[in-house]
Amino acid sequence: MTTGCLFGLGLGPGDPELVTLKTLRLLRAAPVVAYPATEHGESFARRIVAQWLDRGQREIEIRFPMRPGPPLTAIYQKAAAELAALLDAGDDVAYLCQGDPLFYGSFAGILALLGARHRVVIVPGVSSLTACTAAASKPLVQRDETLSVISAGLPEDEIAARLNAADAAVIIKLGRHFAKLRGVLARLGLLDSAIYVERASLPNQRIAALATIDPASVPYFATALVRRRRFAG
Ligand SMILES: C[S@@+](CC[C@H](N)C(=O)[O-])C[C@H]1O[C@@H](n2cnc3c(N)ncnc32)[C@H](O)[C@@H]1O
Repeated sequence: MTTGCLFGLGLGPGDPELVTLKTLRLLRAAPVVAYPATEHGESFARRIVAQWLDRGQREIEIRFPMRPGPPLTAIYQKAAAELAALLDAGDDVAYLCQGDPLFYGSFAGILALLGARHRVVIVPGVSSLTACTAAASKPLVQRDETLSVISAGLPEDEIAARLNAADAAVIIKLGRHFAKLRGVLARLGLLDSAIYVERASLPNQRIAALATIDPASVPYFATALVRRRRFAG
């Protein structure tokens, strides 16, 4: 029997119109659809393509706790074992990835466990990085400038060092780290030009000067755009 293929499908930042034609075709053809979800809430990835899911498809939800800590090895291993059994039985599996599958996505953990033994096809998606700059209508890097992508979960000094080493930065995973980030930006004299983008491409998208944002209102799906020279435009 031929074994199934694992598809890592990039879904884009949230607007269903940013799902590619290729992802949509492969999603509709897959008998099994797997996706990450938070511990108790719904799956953002599933919500993006909910209108195209068909009741005949088997759905596998992989729940990841939203807490910091070491890599979630046990969750990845359990999910990979379940998907491997389906692939070995000949079923194709579509793994839904918000944004791009390999840009800070959980698909990287699944790929590490299944990539050596199974056929894998990865379809890139519009990542939050490009969705946020488009939403803000701000060019982030030009010519020979350097861009850094920084997780807001890093310690303050590390964020500062990485900001100092790049011409521009995208800072992701804001949520409860926002107040700390705001302090670092103020210390480096970057606060006044920093831009805040929340839920880019969705109807409730919010774009504002970062300095005006109440830390208590910041969700996980929010990103900061920073340039050491001022933004053009
Ligand atoms: C685990 S990363 C996943 C990134 C995703 N794979 C991608 O390609 O964009 C999650 C972080 O991406 C950023 N992000 C994802 N979607 C976003 C959106 N629609 N608007 C703003 N930020 C977003 C947020 O900073 C969030 O904390």
